[in-house]
Amino acid sequence: MQYTTLGKTGLQVGVAGLGCGGFSQLGQATGKSEAQSIALVQQAIDLGVNFVDTARNYRTEAIVGKALKGRNRDELVISTKTTVANGTARKPPAQVVRELEASLQAMDLTSVEVFHLHGVPPGVYDYAVREVVPVLLREREKGKFHFLGITEVPPKDAHHQTLQRAVREDCFDVVMPAFHLMHQSAREKIFKHTLAKEIGVLNMFAVRLLFSQPGRLNRVVKQLADEGKLPVWLAETDNPLGFLIHPGGAHTVIDAAYRYCRHEPGTNVILFGTSSSAHMRSNIDSILSGTLPEADLRRIDDLFGALVDVGLDAPGQPSSR
Ligand SMILES: NC(=O)c1ccc[n+]([C@@H]2O[C@H](COP(=O)([O-])OP(=O)(O)OC[C@H]3O[C@@H](n4cnc5c(N)ncnc54)[C@H](OP(=O)(O)O)[C@@H]3O)[C@@H](O)[C@H]2O)c1
Repeated sequence: MQYTTLGKTGLQVGVAGLGCGGFSQLGQATGKSEAQSIALVQQAIDLGVNFVDTARNYRTEAIVGKALKGRNRDELVISTKTTVANGTARKPPAQVVRELEASLQAMDLTSVEVFHLHGVPPGVYDYAVREVVPVLLREREKGKFHFLGITEVPPKDAHHQTLQRAVREDCFDVVMPAFHLMHQSAREKIFKHTLAKEIGVLNMFAVRLLFSQPGRLNRVVKQLADEGKLPVWLAETDNPLGFLIHPGGAHTVIDAAYRYCRHEPGTNVILFGTSSSAHMRSNIDSILSGTLPEADLRRIDDLFGALVDVGLDAPGQPSSR
Protein backbone atom coordinates (compact mmCIF):
# COMPACT_ATOMS: atom_id res chain seq x y z
CA MET A 1 0.00 0.00 0.00
CA GLN A 2 1.02 3.59 -0.51
CA TYR A 3 0.03 5.97 2.27
CA THR A 4 -0.73 9.66 2.17
CA THR A 5 -1.91 12.36 4.58
CA LEU A 6 -5.64 13.05 4.63
CA GLY A 7 -5.40 16.81 4.50
CA LYS A 8 -5.35 18.71 7.78
CA THR A 9 -6.57 15.66 9.71
CA GLY A 10 -2.97 14.46 9.61
CA LEU A 11 -4.28 10.89 9.38
CA GLN A 12 -2.04 8.54 7.41
CA VAL A 13 -4.34 6.74 4.99
CA GLY A 14 -3.83 4.15 2.30
CA VAL A 15 -4.58 5.59 -1.15
CA ALA A 16 -6.94 2.67 -1.85
CA GLY A 17 -9.90 2.83 0.53
CA LEU A 18 -12.56 0.18 0.98
CA GLY A 19 -16.08 1.44 0.27
CA CYS A 20 -18.70 -0.62 2.06
CA GLY A 21 -21.65 0.88 0.18
CA GLY A 22 -22.14 1.37 -3.55
CA PHE A 23 -23.88 -1.38 -5.48
CA SER A 24 -21.92 -4.17 -3.83
CA GLN A 25 -22.19 -3.30 -0.13
CA LEU A 26 -19.41 -5.79 0.58
CA GLY A 27 -21.51 -8.41 -1.22
CA GLN A 28 -24.61 -7.88 0.93
CA ALA A 29 -26.33 -6.49 -2.18
CA THR A 30 -25.20 -9.41 -4.31
CA GLY A 31 -26.14 -12.40 -2.18
CA LYS A 32 -22.96 -12.93 -0.14
CA SER A 33 -23.17 -14.19 3.45
CA GLU A 34 -22.15 -12.07 6.41
CA ALA A 35 -19.08 -14.27 6.89
CA GLN A 36 -18.02 -13.68 3.26
CA SER A 37 -18.42 -9.92 3.68
CA ILE A 38 -16.40 -9.97 6.91
CA ALA A 39 -13.70 -11.92 5.08
CA LEU A 40 -13.62 -9.25 2.35
CA VAL A 41 -12.96 -6.50 4.89
CA GLN A 42 -10.25 -8.63 6.48
CA GLN A 43 -8.70 -9.31 3.09
CA ALA A 44 -8.58 -5.58 2.42
CA ILE A 45 -6.83 -4.95 5.74
CA ASP A 46 -4.38 -7.77 5.03
CA LEU A 47 -3.60 -6.07 1.70
CA GLY A 48 -2.71 -2.86 3.53
CA VAL A 49 -6.01 -0.99 3.26
CA ASN A 50 -6.46 1.10 6.41
CA PHE A 51 -9.30 3.37 5.31
CA VAL A 52 -12.75 1.82 5.56
CA ASP A 53 -15.83 3.85 4.63
CA THR A 54 -19.26 2.71 5.71
CA ALA A 55 -22.58 4.37 6.61
CA ARG A 56 -25.67 3.76 8.61
CA ASN A 57 -27.67 3.38 5.36
CA TYR A 58 -25.36 0.69 3.95
CA ARG A 59 -26.18 -1.78 6.72
CA THR A 60 -22.55 -2.89 6.69
CA GLU A 61 -21.44 -1.29 9.94
CA ALA A 62 -21.89 -4.45 12.00
CA ILE A 63 -19.86 -6.37 9.41
CA VAL A 64 -17.07 -3.82 9.59
CA GLY A 65 -17.15 -4.00 13.40
CA LYS A 66 -16.83 -7.78 13.37
CA ALA A 67 -14.01 -7.64 10.82
CA LEU A 68 -12.05 -5.24 13.03
CA LYS A 69 -11.98 -7.60 16.01
CA GLY A 70 -8.42 -8.52 16.87
CA ARG A 71 -6.96 -5.85 14.58
CA ASN A 72 -4.79 -2.97 15.69
CA ARG A 73 -7.39 -0.21 15.91
CA ASP A 74 -4.66 2.47 15.98
CA GLU A 75 -3.67 1.61 12.41
CA LEU A 76 -7.20 1.84 11.01
CA VAL A 77 -9.17 4.87 9.90
CA ILE A 78 -12.90 4.25 10.10
CA SER A 79 -15.34 6.54 8.39
CA THR A 80 -19.12 6.41 8.72
CA LYS A 81 -22.03 8.71 8.06
CA THR A 82 -25.68 9.43 8.43
CA THR A 83 -28.14 11.57 6.52
CA VAL A 84 -29.58 14.79 7.93
CA ALA A 85 -32.89 14.48 6.11
CA ASN A 86 -35.29 11.83 4.88
CA GLY A 87 -36.37 13.27 1.55
CA THR A 88 -37.56 16.75 2.45
CA ALA A 89 -38.14 15.91 6.13
CA ARG A 90 -35.23 17.28 8.14
CA LYS A 91 -33.98 15.15 11.00
CA PRO A 92 -33.76 16.89 14.38
CA PRO A 93 -30.08 17.21 15.38
CA ALA A 94 -30.74 14.97 18.40
CA GLN A 95 -31.75 12.20 15.99
CA VAL A 96 -28.52 12.62 14.03
CA VAL A 97 -26.63 12.26 17.33
CA ARG A 98 -28.60 9.11 18.17
CA GLU A 99 -27.68 7.71 14.78
CA LEU A 100 -23.99 8.46 15.36
CA GLU A 101 -24.27 6.55 18.63
CA ALA A 102 -26.10 3.71 16.90
CA SER A 103 -23.28 3.51 14.34
CA LEU A 104 -20.68 3.26 17.09
CA GLN A 105 -22.74 0.61 18.81
CA ALA A 106 -23.18 -1.38 15.56
CA MET A 107 -19.40 -1.40 15.09
CA ASP A 108 -18.73 -1.91 18.81
CA LEU A 109 -16.41 1.11 18.77
CA THR A 110 -16.12 4.05 21.14
CA SER A 111 -15.18 6.48 18.36
CA VAL A 112 -14.57 6.78 14.63
CA GLU A 113 -11.96 8.90 12.93
CA VAL A 114 -14.35 10.49 10.41
CA PHE A 115 -18.07 11.10 10.72
CA HIS A 116 -19.85 12.55 7.68
CA LEU A 117 -23.12 14.21 6.93
CA HIS A 118 -24.21 11.74 4.25
CA GLY A 119 -25.40 12.82 0.82
CA VAL A 120 -26.45 16.35 1.69
CA PRO A 121 -28.62 17.81 -1.12
CA PRO A 122 -28.01 21.52 -1.85
CA GLY A 123 -31.48 22.40 -0.50
CA VAL A 124 -30.67 20.92 2.91
CA TYR A 125 -27.16 22.35 3.19
CA ASP A 126 -28.05 25.46 5.21
CA TYR A 127 -30.02 23.38 7.69
CA ALA A 128 -27.15 20.92 8.00
CA VAL A 129 -24.54 23.58 8.72
CA ARG A 130 -26.63 25.86 10.93
CA GLU A 131 -28.57 23.30 12.96
CA VAL A 132 -26.81 19.93 12.84
CA VAL A 133 -23.10 20.77 12.71
CA PRO A 134 -22.96 22.75 16.01
CA VAL A 135 -24.62 19.86 17.84
CA LEU A 136 -22.30 17.33 16.24
CA LEU A 137 -19.23 19.34 17.14
CA ARG A 138 -20.23 19.00 20.79
CA GLU A 139 -20.27 15.23 20.27
CA ARG A 140 -16.80 15.50 18.79
CA GLU A 141 -15.63 17.18 21.98
CA LYS A 142 -16.92 14.12 23.85
CA GLY A 143 -14.64 12.00 21.66
CA LYS A 144 -17.25 10.16 19.60
CA PHE A 145 -15.48 11.12 16.37
CA HIS A 146 -12.36 13.04 15.51
CA PHE A 147 -13.03 14.75 12.18
CA LEU A 148 -16.18 15.96 10.44
CA GLY A 149 -16.88 15.20 6.79
CA ILE A 150 -19.62 15.80 4.26
CA THR A 151 -20.60 13.91 1.11
CA GLU A 152 -22.64 14.97 -1.91
CA VAL A 153 -25.46 13.25 -3.86
CA PRO A 154 -23.87 13.07 -7.32
CA PRO A 155 -26.98 12.32 -9.43
CA LYS A 156 -28.82 15.31 -7.94
CA ASP A 157 -25.82 17.61 -7.59
CA ALA A 158 -23.61 17.13 -10.63
CA HIS A 159 -22.16 20.63 -10.26
CA HIS A 160 -21.10 20.03 -6.65
CA GLN A 161 -23.25 22.82 -5.21
CA THR A 162 -23.12 21.29 -1.72
CA LEU A 163 -19.38 20.71 -1.64
CA GLN A 164 -18.60 24.05 -3.29
CA ARG A 165 -20.14 25.62 -0.21
CA ALA A 166 -18.65 23.10 2.21
CA VAL A 167 -15.06 23.76 1.11
CA ARG A 168 -15.55 27.42 2.00
CA GLU A 169 -16.55 26.61 5.60
CA ASP A 170 -14.06 25.91 8.34
CA CYS A 171 -15.99 23.05 9.98
CA PHE A 172 -15.36 20.27 7.44
CA ASP A 173 -12.06 18.40 7.57
CA VAL A 174 -12.94 15.92 4.81
CA VAL A 175 -15.19 15.94 1.72
CA MET A 176 -16.30 13.19 -0.65
CA PRO A 177 -16.96 14.32 -4.24
CA ALA A 178 -17.69 12.26 -7.34
CA PHE A 179 -14.80 12.48 -9.80
CA HIS A 180 -13.93 10.25 -12.74
CA LEU A 181 -12.36 10.47 -16.16
CA MET A 182 -15.62 11.51 -17.83
CA HIS A 183 -16.80 13.80 -15.01
CA GLN A 184 -13.88 15.99 -14.07
CA SER A 185 -15.64 19.11 -12.77
CA ALA A 186 -14.45 18.57 -9.18
CA ARG A 187 -10.94 19.56 -10.31
CA GLU A 188 -11.82 23.25 -10.65
CA LYS A 189 -14.78 23.44 -8.33
CA ILE A 190 -13.53 21.40 -5.38
CA PHE A 191 -9.89 20.32 -5.54
CA LYS A 192 -8.59 23.84 -6.06
CA HIS A 193 -10.09 24.77 -2.69
CA THR A 194 -9.35 21.55 -0.81
CA LEU A 195 -5.70 21.80 -1.82
CA ALA A 196 -5.50 25.40 -0.65
CA LYS A 197 -7.26 24.66 2.66
CA GLU A 198 -5.85 21.17 3.23
CA ILE A 199 -9.27 19.53 3.32
CA GLY A 200 -9.04 15.76 2.90
CA VAL A 201 -10.61 14.30 -0.26
CA LEU A 202 -12.19 10.88 -0.57
CA ASN A 203 -12.89 10.14 -4.24
CA MET A 204 -16.12 8.28 -4.99
CA PHE A 205 -17.47 7.16 -8.40
CA ALA A 206 -14.03 6.37 -9.89
CA VAL A 207 -15.62 3.33 -11.55
CA ARG A 208 -19.15 2.79 -10.28
CA LEU A 209 -21.42 1.35 -13.02
CA LEU A 210 -20.23 3.43 -15.99
CA PHE A 211 -16.95 1.57 -16.28
CA SER A 212 -17.94 -1.77 -14.75
CA GLN A 213 -21.32 -2.70 -16.20
CA PRO A 214 -21.06 -4.25 -19.68
CA GLY A 215 -22.59 -2.05 -22.38
CA ARG A 216 -23.22 0.99 -20.17
CA LEU A 217 -20.20 2.97 -21.40
CA ASN A 218 -21.16 2.36 -25.06
CA ARG A 219 -24.74 3.50 -24.43
CA VAL A 220 -23.61 6.63 -22.60
CA VAL A 221 -21.03 7.51 -25.29
CA LYS A 222 -23.62 7.03 -28.04
CA GLN A 223 -26.06 9.31 -26.27
CA LEU A 224 -23.38 11.98 -25.79
CA ALA A 225 -22.39 11.69 -29.48
CA ASP A 226 -26.08 12.07 -30.45
CA GLU A 227 -26.20 15.23 -28.32
CA GLY A 228 -23.07 16.56 -30.07
CA LYS A 229 -20.97 16.37 -26.89
CA LEU A 230 -18.60 13.68 -28.19
CA PRO A 231 -17.32 12.90 -31.70
CA VAL A 232 -19.43 10.41 -33.64
CA TRP A 233 -16.42 8.16 -34.40
CA LEU A 234 -16.02 7.45 -30.70
CA ALA A 235 -19.53 6.02 -30.51
CA GLU A 236 -18.80 3.81 -33.51
CA THR A 237 -15.92 1.95 -31.91
CA ASP A 238 -16.47 -1.30 -29.96
CA ASN A 239 -14.67 0.11 -26.93
CA PRO A 240 -14.78 3.91 -26.72
CA LEU A 241 -11.94 3.85 -24.18
CA GLY A 242 -9.95 1.21 -26.07
CA PHE A 243 -7.33 3.84 -26.93
CA LEU A 244 -6.22 3.73 -23.29
CA ILE A 245 -5.39 0.03 -23.42
CA HIS A 246 -1.97 -0.69 -24.90
CA PRO A 247 1.49 -1.81 -23.79
CA GLY A 248 2.76 0.90 -21.44
CA GLY A 249 -0.80 2.10 -20.85
CA ALA A 250 -3.75 0.65 -18.94
CA HIS A 251 -4.62 -3.06 -18.85
CA THR A 252 -8.38 -2.52 -18.82
CA VAL A 253 -10.87 0.34 -18.75
CA ILE A 254 -11.34 -0.19 -15.00
CA ASP A 255 -7.56 -0.05 -14.51
CA ALA A 256 -7.47 3.24 -16.43
CA ALA A 257 -10.40 4.66 -14.45
CA TYR A 258 -8.80 4.00 -11.06
CA ARG A 259 -5.35 5.20 -12.14
CA TYR A 260 -6.81 8.40 -13.57
CA CYS A 261 -8.32 9.31 -10.20
CA ARG A 262 -5.37 8.13 -8.14
CA HIS A 263 -2.94 10.47 -9.85
CA GLU A 264 -5.22 13.49 -9.89
CA PRO A 265 -3.59 16.14 -7.66
CA GLY A 266 -6.14 16.76 -4.93
CA THR A 267 -7.48 13.25 -4.36
CA ASN A 268 -6.24 11.46 -1.23
CA VAL A 269 -8.16 8.18 -1.00
CA ILE A 270 -9.71 6.41 -3.99
CA LEU A 271 -12.72 4.48 -2.72
CA PHE A 272 -13.55 1.20 -4.38
CA GLY A 273 -16.48 -1.05 -3.56
CA THR A 274 -16.71 -4.70 -4.45
CA SER A 275 -18.22 -8.02 -3.51
CA SER A 276 -15.37 -9.93 -5.11
CA SER A 277 -12.04 -10.90 -3.68
CA ALA A 278 -10.47 -10.96 -7.16
CA HIS A 279 -11.82 -7.50 -8.01
CA MET A 280 -10.41 -6.21 -4.74
CA ARG A 281 -6.93 -7.40 -5.62
CA SER A 282 -7.00 -5.97 -9.11
CA ASN A 283 -8.49 -2.67 -7.92
CA ILE A 284 -5.76 -2.22 -5.34
CA ASP A 285 -3.14 -3.13 -7.96
CA SER A 286 -4.58 -0.48 -10.29
CA ILE A 287 -4.74 2.21 -7.61
CA LEU A 288 -1.10 1.45 -6.75
CA SER A 289 -0.01 1.58 -10.40
CA GLY A 290 1.66 4.52 -12.04
CA THR A 291 0.09 7.42 -13.84
CA LEU A 292 -1.38 6.88 -17.31
CA PRO A 293 0.90 7.94 -20.18
CA GLU A 294 0.94 11.69 -20.81
CA ALA A 295 -0.48 11.31 -24.33
CA ASP A 296 -3.44 9.33 -22.98
CA LEU A 297 -4.12 11.92 -20.30
CA ARG A 298 -4.11 14.66 -22.95
CA ARG A 299 -6.56 12.70 -25.06
CA ILE A 300 -8.84 12.10 -22.06
CA ASP A 301 -8.88 15.80 -21.34
CA ASP A 302 -9.42 16.78 -24.98
CA LEU A 303 -12.33 14.38 -25.36
CA PHE A 304 -13.96 14.45 -21.94
CA GLY A 305 -12.65 17.52 -20.11
CA ALA A 306 -15.79 19.56 -20.74
CA LEU A 307 -18.31 16.85 -19.83
CA VAL A 308 -20.32 17.12 -16.65
CA ASP A 309 -22.97 14.84 -15.19
CA VAL A 310 -21.87 11.68 -16.98
CA GLY A 311 -22.39 8.24 -15.45
CA LEU A 312 -23.78 9.54 -12.18
CA ASP A 313 -27.29 8.25 -12.41
CA ALA A 314 -28.43 4.70 -11.93
CA PRO A 315 -32.16 4.48 -12.57
CA GLY A 316 -34.03 2.71 -9.82
CA GLN A 317 -31.12 2.80 -7.39
CA PRO A 318 -30.79 4.95 -4.27
CA SER A 319 -28.43 7.78 -5.16
CA SER A 320 -26.46 8.20 -1.98
CA ARG A 321 -25.15 4.66 -1.53
N1 LIG B 1 -23.02 9.99 -1.21
C1 LIG B 1 -22.15 9.16 -0.69
O1 LIG B 1 -21.72 9.36 0.43
C2 LIG B 1 -21.66 7.97 -1.46
C3 LIG B 1 -22.29 7.59 -2.65
C4 LIG B 1 -21.77 6.52 -3.34
C5 LIG B 1 -20.64 5.86 -2.88
N2 LIG B 1 -20.05 6.24 -1.73
C6 LIG B 1 -18.85 5.55 -1.20
O2 LIG B 1 -17.97 5.28 -2.27
C7 LIG B 1 -17.71 3.88 -2.32
C8 LIG B 1 -17.48 3.47 -3.75
O3 LIG B 1 -18.72 3.52 -4.42
P1 LIG B 1 -18.89 3.91 -5.93
O4 LIG B 1 -20.28 4.41 -6.07
O5 LIG B 1 -17.78 4.76 -6.37
O6 LIG B 1 -18.83 2.60 -6.71
P2 LIG B 1 -18.26 1.17 -6.40
O7 LIG B 1 -19.03 0.53 -5.32
O8 LIG B 1 -16.81 1.28 -6.24
O9 LIG B 1 -18.71 0.49 -7.74
C9 LIG B 1 -17.95 -0.36 -8.33
C10 LIG B 1 -18.86 -1.31 -9.11
O10 LIG B 1 -18.02 -1.90 -10.01
C11 LIG B 1 -17.86 -3.29 -9.74
N3 LIG B 1 -16.43 -3.55 -9.71
C12 LIG B 1 -15.53 -3.14 -8.77
N4 LIG B 1 -14.30 -3.56 -9.12
C13 LIG B 1 -14.43 -4.24 -10.28
C14 LIG B 1 -13.51 -4.92 -11.14
N5 LIG B 1 -12.21 -4.96 -10.85
N6 LIG B 1 -13.99 -5.51 -12.24
C15 LIG B 1 -15.32 -5.45 -12.54
N7 LIG B 1 -16.23 -4.82 -11.79
C16 LIG B 1 -15.80 -4.23 -10.66
C17 LIG B 1 -18.48 -3.57 -8.41
O11 LIG B 1 -19.13 -4.82 -8.49
P3 LIG B 1 -18.46 -6.18 -7.90
O12 LIG B 1 -19.12 -6.38 -6.60
O13 LIG B 1 -18.84 -7.20 -8.92
O14 LIG B 1 -16.99 -6.00 -7.82
C18 LIG B 1 -19.44 -2.38 -8.24
O15 LIG B 1 -20.71 -2.72 -8.71
C19 LIG B 1 -18.94 3.25 -1.66
O16 LIG B 1 -18.70 1.96 -1.20
C20 LIG B 1 -19.16 4.21 -0.54
O17 LIG B 1 -18.24 3.95 0.49
C21 LIG B 1 -20.54 7.29 -1.01
